Amino acid sequence: MIYLKTAVEIEKTRRACDLVSRTLAEVAKEVRPGVTTRHLDNVAREFILDNGGKPACLGYGGFPGTLCIEVNETVVHGFPSGYTLREGDIIGTDCVVELDGYNGDTCYTFAVGEVDDKVKALLRTTKESLYEGIMAARGGKRVGDISNAVQTYCERRGYSVVREMCGHGIGKSMHEDPEVPNYGRRGIGPVLKPNMLICIEPMINLGSKNIVIERDGWQCRTRDRKPSAHFEHTICITDELPEILTTFDYVEEVLRSRGEDPMHIEYIAEPQGSES
Ligand code: MF3
Ligand code: CO
Ligand code: CO
Repeated sequence: MIYLKTAVEIEKTRRACDLVSRTLAEVAKEVRPGVTTRHLDNVAREFILDNGGKPACLGYGGFPGTLCIEVNETVVHGFPSGYTLREGDIIGTDCVVELDGYNGDTCYTFAVGEVDDKVKALLRTTKESLYEGIMAARGGKRVGDISNAVQTYCERRGYSVVREMCGHGIGKSMHEDPEVPNYGRRGIGPVLKPNMLICIEPMINLGSKNIVIERDGWQCRTRDRKPSAHFEHTICITDELPEILTTFDYVEEVLRSRGEDPMHIEYIAEPQGSES
C-alpha cells in the first residue's frame, strides 16, 4: 500500500530530513584516520537526541547503532565498532531520524584522507547515479524509470549494481511501499504520484554485484571484498522534478572547509507553485 502524504506530513518529513542531513555533517567533521566507527555513532546519536529527534535505526529489529557503518567492502547494515579508520578507507554512514512521527533517511560515503583514484571514481559515479535516479523520478513516470536510470548510468561506467537491497517509500515508518530497486526495466512498476515520499539509494560495487550477509544476519559485504559505495536521499514526488528533502549541502560545506573535494552536484527543481 503506497500512502500519498498530506502537506502537513510532507512538512514534518522536511524537518526530519533537515535534522538527519545536519547529523551527517556532524559525523563528517569527525571522519579522519584514527577515529573509531563507534565514536561516529556516538556523535550522531547525541546530536539527534539534543535536537529532539529519535535515532530510528537504533533497536530497529535489534540493530545496534544509530548509523549503519559501511567501511570499504561493507555494502549496508554494518555495525558501529572499535574499528579505527585508516587513510585510504571509504566509509558510508547511513542514518534515519524520526522527528514528530516522521522519518528522514540519508547516506553519504566519505573518503578517509587520500583514497585510490579508482575508488574516488566509484564514489563520484555512485553519487551522480543518485541524481540520475532523482531526475527520472517525475510524477507520472514509474519506479522502473528510476531503477533503469541508476543501473544504466553505473553499468555504462563499468560498475555493478547490488540487487538484494533497494530504496523504498518512507513516512511514519522508515520502510514503506514501494520498493525502489537500483536496476530494472523502464516503464514497469508502480506509477509515481505527487506527494509520494521515497528514498533512492544506489549501492554500487567496484567489482562484481554479488554480496554476502554475515552470520549475524545484518552486516552485508561484497563477495569479492572490493569496495562498495552508497548515497541516499529522501525525495517528494511532484508533477515535475522531485523535491529533494534531505541535502548534502551541510556535509559538503564541512568537506570544503577541510580542503577536500565536495563532489557537489547542482540540482535545481522549481518548488511547486512558484512563478517561473
Ligand atoms: N537506512 C537504511 C535504509 O536506507 C535502513 C536502516 S536498517 C536499520 O533503508 F536496521 F538500521 F534500521
Ligand atoms: Co538509509
Ligand atoms: Co533508505
